[in-house]
Amino acid sequence: MDARPYRSVLYIPGSKARALEKAAGLACDAIIFDLEDAVAVTEKASARALLAETLARTEYGPRAKLLRINDLASDWGRADLEVLAETGPEAILLPKVGSAADVEALARFLDARPATAETRIWAMMETPQGVQNAPAIARAPRMAGFVMGTNDLAKELGARFRPDRLPLMLALQACLMAARGAGIVAVDGVFNAFRDEDGLRAECEQGRDLGFDGKSLIHPAQIDTANAVFAPAPEELDLARRQIAAWQEATERGEGVAVVDGRIVENLHIETARRQIARAEAIARLKEAM
Ligand code: COA
Ligand code: MG
Repeated sequence: MDARPYRSVLYIPGSKARALEKAAGLACDAIIFDLEDAVAVTEKASARALLAETLARTEYGPRAKLLRINDLASDWGRADLEVLAETGPEAILLPKVGSAADVEALARFLDARPATAETRIWAMMETPQGVQNAPAIARAPRMAGFVMGTNDLAKELGARFRPDRLPLMLALQACLMAARGAGIVAVDGVFNAFRDEDGLRAECEQGRDLGFDGKSLIHPAQIDTANAVFAPAPEELDLARRQIAAWQEATERGEGVAVVDGRIVENLHIETARRQIARAEAIARLKEAM
């Protein structure tokens, strides 16, 4: 799996020059440059040109860059792909993926061009068909990550918004399960009320507890919360280090199990502890590079 952090994944409308400039200095781990739903129908062509031109001259540093094109069955998707492929993108984010065949078609397009030899594919998981086909989509060629499209999904299901997201839980978990089974990244959906910080924090915590790598965001004011919630906390790192030390001592004594804070520590807990430490180190390296 991509070892980079994806705690905060910010959408930027490809039509908004000011936001595109601003993003180069924001503390988000990744950016979704959007030509799809954040761009009005009347602005599709101008946003495509603005985005291609901005990507060619702007340095976005260590932030991961995902380019969200329009659906390939739409009037604009193919043109988005033709123009953005020229920029040698690290990743294309495909909206409304319904099956592995959608990803395979995009992969064939990328295979045919030298500029996109290394380009990875990410999928928006936001339709009932996509969720049902999640395991095959996660294993399709060039796949690197899922982004949950919770607004589209709620619309398709006829589900209502609830703070506990119970109506979406099956889909969230099915996609997470598929992503983990294939070893790809999984990013949670957006929180629409971008001025409600407590609501955002609660939803980030829920996504983190489910196992997501991070949250997709719509406004810069949401970045700090996502970065904090999806990073290992100091007390978690402290526990991880104590678990590793105790387990090493136990192993030297010829025992396979240690006890820390009244709880057993086995080999599998050590893997989790090491992963937490590696995550904290990756976050520190990213911060350093910004
Ligand atoms: N990325 C980068 N910068 C952004 C931004 C974003 N997603 N959203 C807002 N900003 C910038 C604005 O340009 C503004 O910059 P400035 O003050 O330096 O000029 C600053 O942040 C404050 O913006 P604010 O006035 O609070 O927001 P707004 O009312 O202009 O816009 C939204 C609110 C929700 C319309 C806007 O944030 C947005 O378009 N978000 C993305 C929506 C999207 O991509 N949807 C598709 C996926 S669900
Ligand atoms: Mg969508």
